[in-house]
Amino acid sequence: MPQTSEPAGEPILEVSGLVKHYPLTQGILFKKQIGAVKAVDGVDFTLRQGETLGIVGESGCGKSTVAKMLVNLERPTAGAIKYKGEDITKLSGRALKAVRRNIQMVFQDPYTSLNPRMTVGDIIGEPYEIHPEVAPKGDRRKRVQDLLDVVGLNPEYINRYPHQFSGGQRQRIGIARGLALRPEIIVADEPVSALDVSVQAQVVNLLDGLQSEFDLSYVFIAHDLSIVRHISDRVGVMYLGRVVEIGSDTEIYDHPTHPYTQALLSAVPVPDPSARDRRERIILHGDVPSPADPPSGCPFRTRCWKAQERCAREVPLLVVPEAFRGAEGPAVHPSSCHFAEEMQVVPSE
Ligand SMILES: Nc1ncnc2c1ncn2[C@@H]1O[C@H](COP(=O)(O)OP(=O)(O)OP(=O)(O)O)[C@@H](O)[C@H]1O
Ligand code: SF4
Ligand SMILES: [Mg+2]
Repeated sequence: MPQTSEPAGEPILEVSGLVKHYPLTQGILFKKQIGAVKAVDGVDFTLRQGETLGIVGESGCGKSTVAKMLVNLERPTAGAIKYKGEDITKLSGRALKAVRRNIQMVFQDPYTSLNPRMTVGDIIGEPYEIHPEVAPKGDRRKRVQDLLDVVGLNPEYINRYPHQFSGGQRQRIGIARGLALRPEIIVADEPVSALDVSVQAQVVNLLDGLQSEFDLSYVFIAHDLSIVRHISDRVGVMYLGRVVEIGSDTEIYDHPTHPYTQALLSAVPVPDPSARDRRERIILHGDVPSPADPPSGCPFRTRCWKAQERCAREVPLLVVPEAFRGAEGPAVHPSSCHFAEEMQVVPSE
């Protein structure tokens, strides 16, 4: 993958102020709203043509909710998702259907995301039922066989059922289905997390190869920081419904400035024993707060060893921090911390 610090292509997806609050209700007959789960609470990022944007963060920080809003499986409570400049959250009917074709999702669990009663051919070809204009009926079988070939499966398997495949093969089927409509963007939500480690690399390499072959842009979600680094051009780190730091892979992995990113990186396994000894270890105390009752100010302040009074009062914005303005170098990237400082957590080789 390219390791550029500056994203090259035109913006294809611009997400701003994205919010998803799930109402918390009480009562059986007369439901009364008593609060909200703030699953996503103001997310901003840009995806550029041809790049892979990785999104990482602990369980429950809102990654899947963002993914679902990008592919319109969930309607945002607020905010905008612009596809090539047009806010798709405002679209409906045919205009929405046309855009949805271009943004497809690959799901986490290849065991439950494929209908066990459908043949592989029907699973991969199902999107053509909704978008018959992409493949006329007579062409579909051939199209599906071509897709099986593209993802490294034998086209003769078209009449088999999901249970006849391994986990890795099933995820290839999920990817073939995601490609059926020739989308421009694929949102992959933990696409390899359910797979054996030995198979993960094969599926990541397949996605990598498909990206150049089909000129795809990826949003790649995972909680494994090493996998995200391998595939991503840029990485956004999420905490409690927000992106707290975003930058190129070098900026985030080698020059993180947000305490949460630094803590996450300090927990990544380092294979080289001497590097392991020199590595900073940051132990985070306490649990992630409930998204139904997030802390005031900075969402990370209840676990941050650098928190000060200002952190409770003032929400830090996702911008280049004050301390780095006017400076140059890889530490200069958006990080939502009032007291951002560079720290190399994982020693360079
Ligand atoms: N339909 C829903 N109703 C209420 N709360 C929800 C709903 N869907 C998600 N949530 C809550 O929103 C928060 C974010 O969930 P989400 O699934 O987006 O997290 P995630 O980062 O994908 O986590 P994981 O790494 O475990 O997949 C969680 O607290 C979750 O319990
Ligand atoms: S703003 Fe304060 S609490 Fe939040 S990460 Fe920075 S130092 Fe920690
Ligand atoms: Mg998830």
